[in-house]
Amino acid sequence: MCGIVGYVGPQPAAPLIVEGLTRLEHRGYDSAGVAVLGATPGSAVRVAKRAGRVRDLQDQIPPRFAGRLGIGHTRWATHGPATDANAHPHTDTAGAVAVVHNGIIDNATALRALLAEDGVEFASDTDTEVLAHLIGASTAPTLEERVVEALRRIEGTYGLAVVHADFPDRIVVARNGSPLIVGVGEKEMHVASDLAALVRYTTTVAHLEDGELATLTAAGFSTFRADLSRTDTRAHVLDIDPAAYEAGEADSFMHKEMHEQPSAVERVLRGRLDERFGTAHLGGLNMDARETRAIRRVKILGCGSAYYVGQMGASLIEELARIPADAEAASEFRYRNPVIEPDTLYVAVSQSGETVDTLLAVEEVRRKGGRVIGLVNVVGSAIARACDGGMYLHAGPEVAVASTKALSTMFVGFALLALQLGRVRDLSIADGKRLIAALDALPAQIQQILDREDELAAAAQRLAGAESLFFIGRVRGYPVAREGAQKFKEITYRHAEAYQTSELKHGPLALISPTLPTVAVVPDDELTERNAAALHEIAARKGPLVVITHAGVDLGGVACERIDVPRSERELDPLLLAVPLQMLAYHAAVALGHDVDKPRNLAKSVTVE
Ligand code: AGP
Repeated sequence: MCGIVGYVGPQPAAPLIVEGLTRLEHRGYDSAGVAVLGATPGSAVRVAKRAGRVRDLQDQIPPRFAGRLGIGHTRWATHGPATDANAHPHTDTAGAVAVVHNGIIDNATALRALLAEDGVEFASDTDTEVLAHLIGASTAPTLEERVVEALRRIEGTYGLAVVHADFPDRIVVARNGSPLIVGVGEKEMHVASDLAALVRYTTTVAHLEDGELATLTAAGFSTFRADLSRTDTRAHVLDIDPAAYEAGEADSFMHKEMHEQPSAVERVLRGRLDERFGTAHLGGLNMDARETRAIRRVKILGCGSAYYVGQMGASLIEELARIPADAEAASEFRYRNPVIEPDTLYVAVSQSGETVDTLLAVEEVRRKGGRVIGLVNVVGSAIARACDGGMYLHAGPEVAVASTKALSTMFVGFALLALQLGRVRDLSIADGKRLIAALDALPAQIQQILDREDELAAAAQRLAGAESLFFIGRVRGYPVAREGAQKFKEITYRHAEAYQTSELKHGPLALISPTLPTVAVVPDDELTERNAAALHEIAARKGPLVVITHAGVDLGGVACERIDVPRSERELDPLLLAVPLQMLAYHAAVALGHDVDKPRNLAKSVTVE
């Protein structure tokens, strides 16, 4: 969703900011803009902004767009359509203030009405413009006070950056519910809503807390709260490889990230397996064995693909720990006034750690006294910080909107959790060791699937021609089918619907025809025969079939395109069954000519409800 970039230092600001904005393109956006400020007090704020891609903005920036301080933004429309006027930065009437903002101002309508009564004429439909006028109207002696004064009048969430013609040495930024990271350079300072825009310039960063503001000048930064009291947020050096944020030789980030799955799975396992006792060690859960044993139920909360992996995780926990477990879409959970039970363990799962629906679900549980742990990829993210404990997934930066390697690490994270919960209960040491051996084998098995990319690409090209598809599976295979359909629709824009194989006869079978292919997930398990029978029912109605299964599974000679994946232990099979579905979606999208990394209408991190 929306992205923020800012720079103050000795270099021309606009090119640096535009480059930073290109690094945020994957988050999803529909317009972009930049504002720069000359060094002389009172010199006008210069703004260039437009609907469309960052490269369209770049073409529009005049050659003499000079200034060594500036802010930029990519907008994902919420208040008002994607137009040039609604793009950020927004300015006050005098053109002295420029503001970029992520988040939503809930009382914008009321404030717009009040400002209009005072004669303010609005240039856009946005909530953000209100902030520019409020800051512009303030006569407080410092920019910091003017920003704080304006923020006192607004309700809502924000990450924002402000520049003002009368204070040409500084950017003031503020965070409340929307991330902001300050990057420290050599006699220059950066700010961004996402590390991806900073790592090329610096890996020395400070994460602002909610309710915190900061002033950035070329000489450094200082942080404070709305009462202007200083905070002592310090910068630290991140242990990250900036190359991880580049696609490099790969055709796309999604392609690169699918192929990074073996190493990502190795990282999430590293140091967490205890061969001797056949268990996992997840110290970050902050729970001792007694507390772990007292858990009577597990409720997993996530959105989209994280929710589907949560369903896979719930099965793992029920099977290995024999604790009743289920997953629920975090986006729905809060709205049904859920009963929060003291002996339930709540688990939030998120790649970005920013998904606002998941964050609000966590806050709902904690407000009612429940315990929440997080399975999160982005270190220090809002969800990670809001939880009582948890584990980081160590998948590395995931840039493509369609999640792949993060999902694999989520699955393994759930397997580790299930193992630890199981081993303080009735899971035997022998079963624990059996699972550890299977977990250790996963990276090489994922690699075997990735090595068959040509075969999967050929199958995908055949599927790409269909307007509509079914993805089917049962029990462990059903969340796999849901995730396969999700990936397919996200990047191919085809209608892909997941169904329980057992439910076909109760309605959807009516749709089967030669133009509607079915992708079936048929692991070698207790349901294989029943699954094979359903495949025959589809084939009898001339429905084209692609079957993801295991070598040796007898499908009764049904006409189909068969893709065999390596066998794991049954509990872990869903991960290996899901990987080919990513490949099918990816290659179908490429065959259709889509930009796989930036699917239309979607954002990498969904930071609005
Ligand atoms: C996955 O391919 C999707 N882009 C989407 O469903 C995603 O999983 C969901 O929005 C949750 O994101 P999160 O993991 O960052 O919380």
